[in-house]
Amino acid sequence: MAILSCQAYRGDFPELLNTGIIYFDNAASTLKPKHVIDAMNEFITKTYANVHRGVYNLAMESTRLYEEAHDIVSKLICAEQEEIVFTPQGTTNALQLVALLLHHNGILREGDEIIVPGDAHNSNLLPWRQIARWNKARVKVVPVDQNGIPRWDKLGELVSHRTRLIAVTHVSNVTGYESPLDEISKIAREVGAYIVVDGAQSVPHIPVCVNNLDIDFLAFSGHKMLGPTGIGVLWIRKELAYELEPPLAGGGTIKDVECKCGANNIRVDWEEPPWKFEAGTPPIIEAIGLAAAAEYLLMIGMANVAAHETYLTERMLRGLSQIDKVRIVGPSDPKMRRGIISFVVDKVHPDIIGIRLGQEGIAVRTGTHCANMMYHMLGLHEGSIRASFYLYNCPEEVDVFIEKLEKIVSE
Ligand code: ALA
Repeated sequence: MAILSCQAYRGDFPELLNTGIIYFDNAASTLKPKHVIDAMNEFITKTYANVHRGVYNLAMESTRLYEEAHDIVSKLICAEQEEIVFTPQGTTNALQLVALLLHHNGILREGDEIIVPGDAHNSNLLPWRQIARWNKARVKVVPVDQNGIPRWDKLGELVSHRTRLIAVTHVSNVTGYESPLDEISKIAREVGAYIVVDGAQSVPHIPVCVNNLDIDFLAFSGHKMLGPTGIGVLWIRKELAYELEPPLAGGGTIKDVECKCGANNIRVDWEEPPWKFEAGTPPIIEAIGLAAAAEYLLMIGMANVAAHETYLTERMLRGLSQIDKVRIVGPSDPKMRRGIISFVVDKVHPDIIGIRLGQEGIAVRTGTHCANMMYHMLGLHEGSIRASFYLYNCPEEVDVFIEKLEKIVSE
């Protein structure tokens, strides 16, 4: 498979040039290209004003660019503008919005069930636990096998007519395993369940086209796809976006509101989606940065990004398999995983390896990666060391990593 000209792209990332770091912590957050930094800077210094409010030129231009940002981001996942809701923070907030939507719209009721996979990130687990508690519903967990792969083959046994929601980790932030969305949707739809997908580690790295997927919600983060922090995206399937009432209401969410006589006396005329879901002054500057990030990725092509990461992953897995005492967490078949590789070193705390790699100029993340439930299931209570790639990582960096790790492990 073709590899991206990573050396050429590296020049677009000032932090790489300024630090010379080998940055393998992309699953936690990615670096920012000049294209994003410049777009935000240009907007702040020339066009910034609040949106959907003022009628002066700056406010109208700011509004136009903010709305256009939804359009640009929609192209990344083959969606439509009205389906793209910008949320503050990232995936965490977007998934919480789904939980609130289900609760507020009376979709989840007493005795209902929510199914989550054993490889769920805490952000795709805790909101379901919370709304289950509010509604006296129950959370069921799809177990993982010894490699941390959810046993989706057991889903048929777990679902029932009470299953209201199935939450899926599209790509695991620990093992890089990509879950079979088509198979899951098929089973979910047989029992009329909603499907929410945590796309934090998929949308930035592989082609994701919602019009090829039978799902209801897709959440992802700006800061994990070259964009700024402070913004996330919740894609809501169009019919639902029109149908659901927003649980978080405020400025910008209504066309009109007035007081009527009678008991339920505040009458509201909701805005169209996505605006009815974006209460208050939204992350405007961040939206401009996120749109610039989406443009940059669209220019490179998501299939190219994915192929590049697969190449690096295969190289890394080969290298790691040569080092004694290293055990890889996740599928050993590189075709079953994306550009995230976690591993443990026999009898050494992951943080020790992380600190030593840091001293060698290599950034990785260590610990339980906000996926505590899975690490407990695997008996790896201290977590692991995780290397995760992006388009600016080069094969030579993988080779340096292996060489340095070999030296550290032998110390
Ligand atoms: N969810 C992020 C990670 O996996 C922070 O590191």
